[in-house]
Amino acid sequence: MNELQATAIDQREATRIRLTVNGKLHLLDVDGNTRLLDLVRNDLGHTGTKEGCSVGECGACTVIMNQEAVCSCMVLAAQCNGAEITTIEGVAEDPLANQLQQSFIEEGGVQCGFCTPGVLMSTKALLDKKPTPSDDEIMDALEGNLCRCTGYQPIMNSVKAVIARNHDKDKQ
Ligand code: FES
Ligand code: FES
Repeated sequence: MNELQATAIDQREATRIRLTVNGKLHLLDVDGNTRLLDLVRNDLGHTGTKEGCSVGECGACTVIMNQEAVCSCMVLAAQCNGAEITTIEGVAEDPLANQLQQSFIEEGGVQCGFCTPGVLMSTKALLDKKPTPSDDEIMDALEGNLCRCTGYQPIMNSVKAVIARNHDKDKQ
């Protein structure tokens, strides 16, 4: 058997992983080629996570993994043993995510909506860690999320409106 054949067989071999997705523990057998994106969309049916470029450039597939926003197309499922994953479905009842969603509607930060789940997850990961980030920090957090529709300023406005509202509330 040559090295290439051995690698191909290794990649087909299933690995058993335990991971928590949206608060629910799963025990799954995944092969070496399965991406976290495939796992959440195909195995678990969380189709709010979108597939755009498939190469880590558009951010449509962003989920939160252990408190960090990651492109799920670039993470192998086999690397997720023990991880805590949150997809857009997992923040349906989250107050901050709901505020962001409303603000995106009000400020025009959502148009076709394809990028929106990814943008929302990147923003939430940032604001959970740093509730009052600077403009530069917001731009850094969102630099991996491409949007064809909005021109980005309405997205910035949406995020900043939530930050300003929460900051004002804190001062009262
Ligand atoms: S689909 Fe993952 S970054 Fe584009
Ligand atoms: S709203 Fe259409 S890609 Fe962002």
